[in-house]
Amino acid sequence: MSGKIAAFHDFEPIQDDFRTAVLNGLSSPQKSIPSKFFYDEKGSGLFDRICHLEEYYPTRTELGILQKYGKEIAHFTGERTHLIEFGSGSSTKIQTLLDAINKPLSYIPMDISKEHLLEAAKNLAARFPEIPVIAICADYTSDFQFPALVPGKRTGFFPGSTIGNFAPKEAADFLKQTRQLLNGGNLLIGVDLVKDHNVLFQAYNDQEGVTAQFNLNILARCNAELSANFVIDNFEHHAPYNETQNRIEMHLVSKTDQIVSVGGNTFSFKAGESIHTENSYKYTIEGFQKLASDAGYKSSKAWIDEQSLFSVHFLSSSEEPS
Ligand code: TRP
Repeated sequence: MSGKIAAFHDFEPIQDDFRTAVLNGLSSPQKSIPSKFFYDEKGSGLFDRICHLEEYYPTRTELGILQKYGKEIAHFTGERTHLIEFGSGSSTKIQTLLDAINKPLSYIPMDISKEHLLEAAKNLAARFPEIPVIAICADYTSDFQFPALVPGKRTGFFPGSTIGNFAPKEAADFLKQTRQLLNGGNLLIGVDLVKDHNVLFQAYNDQEGVTAQFNLNILARCNAELSANFVIDNFEHHAPYNETQNRIEMHLVSKTDQIVSVGGNTFSFKAGESIHTENSYKYTIEGFQKLASDAGYKSSKAWIDEQSLFSVHFLSSSEEPS
């Protein structure tokens, strides 16, 4: 299905960002690569597969919440609002909201992965021909010139517990930033909950090994785009739950002592040494509401599934729109 999108704004992140981030990250005592670089074409496809895995409960649980409470959520967002999605991926979850909300002013998907974004935006435009779709290819954590919109309320949509991929302090800063972009509007946000450690562990260590492939793909991307020579088989996926910090940690662990070159810079690895690629923080309802309030949002409502696996929060800006 391919429809016509109303506008496309391209702020595709420059290659230098990736190079600098990898060189800096691999130079630290605890080697790391920021998780936003997972999402090249291959990585975005693998992530879509993760979302369909039996063990990975967040996607279907959040979708279930959005479906079950769609009308109630629409009551909070109100009609005639711009809907701005941070990290829209395949734009699957928004469809439930677009079905429930009467006449949104526009749907504005933002994503770092250009082809993936455009394909999803066109499909969406075909399915909802009456809603203007304004696609923005950008790293939404960076500074970019957000396009002018027709006047109207703005509602942000940030599903998938991506907020959990920031450390709590960065998460609060990011939430503050969204208040500017939303112009005093509201934010609908999905947050994964603290729960049985085994359930959490399985979600990031699936039987089929798709999450492992997704994690390892970042090394293949370094090879392809930064003239690196990672031997992918010399690393393995490791994703334990860190109980003291309430987070799943994602690592790529070196299986042997080895030396890797990245665009002419060499990095040595001891056997067992890791590259830290991601954190996924889990919250309690109260813990997340506290974070939201630190960022200047008022928690108007939280919806939870029957098994208390996942939550969706409606946050309103506590100050009047400027
Ligand atoms: N926001 C998702 C999460 O924290 C991202 C994610 C899911 C993810 N599975 C992953 C990131 C595996 C890296 C690897 O759950």
